[in-house]
Amino acid sequence: MGKIRDPSLADSGRKKIEWAESRMPVLMRLRKSHSSEKTLSGVRIAGCLHVTKETAVLVETFKAAGAEVSWCGCNPLSTQDDVAAALDAAGVEIFAWRGLSPEEYYWCIEQTLKIGPKLTLDDGADLIFTVHTKHPEYLSHIEGGTEETTTGIHRIRSMAKEGKLRYPIVAVNDAETKSDFDNVYGTGQSAIDGVIRATNVLFAGKNVVISGFGHCGRGLASRARGLGANVIVTEVDPIKALKARMEGFEVMKMSEASRIGDIFISATGCKDVITKDHFAVMKDGAILANAGHFNVEVSVSDLENIARGSREIRPDNREYTLQDGRRLYLLAEGRLVNLAAAEGHPSEVMDMSFANQFLSILRLAKEGKNLKPDVYEIPRSQDEQVARLKLESMGISIDELTKEQQHYLSSWGEGT
Ligand SMILES: NC(=O)c1ccc[n+]([C@@H]2O[C@H](COP(=O)([O-])OP(=O)(O)OC[C@H]3O[C@@H](n4cnc5c(N)ncnc54)[C@H](O)[C@@H]3O)[C@@H](O)[C@H]2O)c1
Repeated sequence: MGKIRDPSLADSGRKKIEWAESRMPVLMRLRKSHSSEKTLSGVRIAGCLHVTKETAVLVETFKAAGAEVSWCGCNPLSTQDDVAAALDAAGVEIFAWRGLSPEEYYWCIEQTLKIGPKLTLDDGADLIFTVHTKHPEYLSHIEGGTEETTTGIHRIRSMAKEGKLRYPIVAVNDAETKSDFDNVYGTGQSAIDGVIRATNVLFAGKNVVISGFGHCGRGLASRARGLGANVIVTEVDPIKALKARMEGFEVMKMSEASRIGDIFISATGCKDVITKDHFAVMKDGAILANAGHFNVEVSVSDLENIARGSREIRPDNREYTLQDGRRLYLLAEGRLVNLAAAEGHPSEVMDMSFANQFLSILRLAKEGKNLKPDVYEIPRSQDEQVARLKLESMGISIDELTKEQQHYLSSWGEGT
């Protein structure tokens, strides 16, 4: 028996899942081919990943392929309660509701582990961390796991470097068909959607400050520009900063950007990117949002310490009044704005991410026990398979190399 907010929401959740299914052709195709063969028959999977309609399609694909699944969310604010209710009604063991306290959050992870997983699936590595630190008793059964996001991969690579990682992890995030699409177009669109839903502000004519010009930041910057904003990028990597400048964005330090920004969106995976020194010089009315995995990029504690009061002015939008009367607006408590204030990435892009998740879980179910504890990339052939299936679903054909071209590209004899 799982635990969710409200079973009566199941019907609304089921409709959302059906909508997502209609936009996830690659994953649905994999579901079709693996449900008849029951490729994952009897494989127990513990998953910790945002409970959205797209995740539901993944979970039900695992079930259709014969797996036993136990699930929880990977962020206290990202669970869609109606989707959780629909999964619960369909017999999935799920421990998730929106608005978890930190204690409830880890309680849900611990319940999920009780399935005794052979494989784990993570987004941010909190489940992997919990197994390694609090519940090593499960380690002897676990043969492998996957990780969905950049921050999780950073954490797991650090564990591997210190010799602390006890089972192999496939870095799903690093698949080209994941990070170059989900992080770029998914976060780019949905984080701006989150800011708009929480504020309904006009982007045109605003100074929008994007922190981090990696995968997510790149998508955010180009989409904010598309809405007519003047985009300013802050970075710590000189190459990324140069790329941002040559893309036509302004680049400056946060200490300068904080004086002129109207809307701030962080996407760095780093902590303390926007802090009290920056709040001290911001314009009245500035909006603060985060798209990075954890709520550490905008310092909420600094904001709380320097504010003389706060109130929720709209859903997912808290107005902080500073001593001098200026008001700053923090969206979704500084948590992933796209998942907390909107619905997360569009289904079309999660189609590719979750096709990679599904194929990586298939690989680990077969080979996991033979792999040493380490971080593994997904094979190029898998990336290409996902891209080809996606192109096919879009009705797009591409050219193929002729024998002569293949020979030319692999030889050094032909020049001027
Ligand atoms: N909101 C979502 O749904 C979603 C989706 C994918 C990834 N993420 C998360 O977003 C974050 C970024 O992911 P990514 O794939 O873009 O990573 P990335 O490594 O591609 O990019 C991060 C960029 O931030 C820069 N950076 C680091 N510290 C900085 C600082 N203090 N100030 C300014 N720039 C700084 C880095 O130099 C890098 O260019 C991660 O936490 C990731 O897990 C969120």
